[in-house]
Amino acid sequence: MPRFDPMKLQGSVHKILDSPGSLQGRLKSLCERLKRERAHYHWVGIYWIEGEDLVLKGYAGAHETEHTRIPIGRGICGSAARSGKTEILGDVNADPRYLACFPSTRSEIVVPIKRGDRVFGEIDIDSDAPEAFTPADKEFLERVASAVADRVSEGEIL
Ligand code: SME
Repeated sequence: MPRFDPMKLQGSVHKILDSPGSLQGRLKSLCERLKRERAHYHWVGIYWIEGEDLVLKGYAGAHETEHTRIPIGRGICGSAARSGKTEILGDVNADPRYLACFPSTRSEIVVPIKRGDRVFGEIDIDSDAPEAFTPADKEFLERVASAVADRVSEGEIL
């Protein structure tokens, strides 16, 4: 695995987001690229807000999750959607809000996709390693989320 070069990876992210095709298709490619480039990203998904729920629109990872629809306010995903703030769990089992998807998951990061105060969706990443997500992951993923938000029109349906 090459050394993490956030600027270079950011360039690939922009290319994916600016490629032709539906936004949902591009977001699926984004999940695949992030998982491929970062060894500790074991499952990468994108949820989108529909009414009062978050709905899973695409993911890259070995397994499907049963949590394809999560009410805003529930779990780590629902908390981040409500607050608009990134959530990092170094130990998922230590947080009573955590909704388990995969028995192997040890840590998680959830990054809202937002413009101003308006949250459109979020990037959710699970890792099988404890304490896997650093401030560098947070900074990088918040830039990725912002690049997605820049390309979303108001009320966009995926
Ligand atoms: N763990 C999340 C649910 C989504 S799965 O990780 C794919 C949560 O607590 O909201």
